[in-house]
Amino acid sequence: MKKLIRILMMVFIGFAINACYYDAFPEDDYVPGDGDDGETELLSYQDDIEPLWVQCTGCHKEGGDAPNMLDDSYDNLLDGYVIPFDADASILYKSLLGIDGVELMPPGSGWPTSKSNLVRDWINQGALDN
Ligand code: HEC
Repeated sequence: MKKLIRILMMVFIGFAINACYYDAFPEDDYVPGDGDDGETELLSYQDDIEPLWVQCTGCHKEGGDAPNMLDDSYDNLLDGYVIPFDADASILYKSLLGIDGVELMPPGSGWPTSKSNLVRDWINQGALDN
């Protein structure tokens, strides 16, 4: 009998935990989509894009002729390397694909599409400083 009570309690606790999970509020930065499954959520420069530059900052720092991605990376990139809403025309995105005469970055290896697509989507969403 004791065993049965214990099992019932565990099942009850399981349900209670699940209920909390489903009641949880969405994250603060949750952006509702328009219901279209193909919709990309709004990317954040600080959270989604800037951390990617760790693979670039070894070379792209103060004093080089390539974009400085260490300090004020946003301003540096918007200074000619990124054209808001137009990834295909942006040197930054071209460098990730190594197209249109722009050298492939990082040199020799490039990035998986999943990563370069993040940069593409961020630019096409307006290259926001968010
Ligand atoms: C090993 C060093 C190195 C790394 C790592 C590196 N770059 Fe570069 N990058 C360079 C050099 C050197 C140039 C200048 C090339 C030139 O002018 O021909 C350059 C140029 C560029 C340019 C300008 C291209 C142009 O035609 O004006 C962009 C944009 C760029 N890099 C983006 C990146 C990004 C994004 C990353 C990280 C994913 C990255 N780079 C990683 C060395 C590097």
